[in-house]
Amino acid sequence: MNVLVIHGPNLDLLGTREPDVYGSATLAEIDTRIQRVAESLKITVRTVQYNSEGEIIDELHRAAGSVDGIVINPAAFTHYAYALRDAIAAVGKPTVEVHLSNIHAREPFRAQSVTASVCRGTIAGFGAESYCLALRALADLLRR
Ligand code: DQA
Repeated sequence: MNVLVIHGPNLDLLGTREPDVYGSATLAEIDTRIQRVAESLKITVRTVQYNSEGEIIDELHRAAGSVDGIVINPAAFTHYAYALRDAIAAVGKPTVEVHLSNIHAREPFRAQSVTASVCRGTIAGFGAESYCLALRALADLLRR
């Protein structure tokens, strides 16, 4: 089972970026945690991070033929990126949307996700654990 984990813009700054909101773990530390969960689930996970929407879309297109499922934290693109939404729909792989913070308990613009409706589900608000929960949910879904 091959899963692609995509981190969106500004997540490369985790560790120093608004730690009160996003926690103090760096992206490398989160990726290590993701790989540990992947091992325990006996799945193969590749993690990538991009700051531009086009690069994420290109990665999704490439992934179409090689992955079974996708976990994505679209970061700020969540709230307005229709091209990214269309790419997730076009690729058609089971996708779980992830957020470190609870996007529903923050500024009103964050409560809207244009990508959630083309994902199988969303996990938000559990910090780095959101990714682990998403991986478990996706693995479970793919094994059904
Ligand atoms: C985020 C929430 C978004 O609103 C924000 O733009 C991010 C991170 C999260 O993981 O909580 O960059 O996706």
